[in-house]
Amino acid sequence: MAKILIVYSTTDGHTRKISRRLQGMIENQGNQVTVISVDDASGIDLKPFDKIVIGASIRYGKHSPKIYEFIKENAQTLGSKSNAFFSVNVVARKPEKNKPETNPYLIKFLKQISWKPKTLAVFAGKIDYQKYSHLDRFMIRLIMWMTKGPTDPKANIEFTNWNDVEEFSRVVNEM
Ligand SMILES: Cc1cc2nc3c(=O)[nH]c(=O)nc-3n(C[C@H](O)[C@H](O)[C@H](O)COP(=O)(O)O)c2cc1C
Repeated sequence: MAKILIVYSTTDGHTRKISRRLQGMIENQGNQVTVISVDDASGIDLKPFDKIVIGASIRYGKHSPKIYEFIKENAQTLGSKSNAFFSVNVVARKPEKNKPETNPYLIKFLKQISWKPKTLAVFAGKIDYQKYSHLDRFMIRLIMWMTKGPTDPKANIEFTNWNDVEEFSRVVNEM
């Protein structure tokens, strides 16, 4: 049994949902999993954990600055443990952009941080236009129109492939 920490950053809750699903899946494989928002993770003692997983969503092309801070603060401890990072974005709904090697946000992110995650994953996120502010809805619909995605202002679509999340849970169990 390993002690595993999942630290996530989310704006609309989807990365939290993925993290909690991962928790259930990894616990079913016989591990003890703690899930925490990056908002509450400042100063957390990482030493008791055997493995650390960090997950973050993309908003206007970027992961949250809090994720960069957390990684910077904990780079040394992170590097000394089994670790993984996953990114959540809607570009990853496209088959040609849904792998760590092909997802532009993950590729860029890895160039910006000193930590080299040992395991990587990308999951397609969710669109829920009715939850967004007018400006966000306008912007995301525009981006979707340009990239041939859904533009119906009532669209609420989860692009996440939960089989990929399940597969990642097995990788985390074995890493
Ligand atoms: C305001 C806003 C901006 C977004 N910007 C991007 C983006 O630049 N690229 C992308 O692929 N997805 C983008 N997304 C999609 C999110 O990554 C997706 O909705 C994800 O599921 C959000 O996860 P969260 O709820 O954990 O924050 C954006 C979503 C919103 C609401």
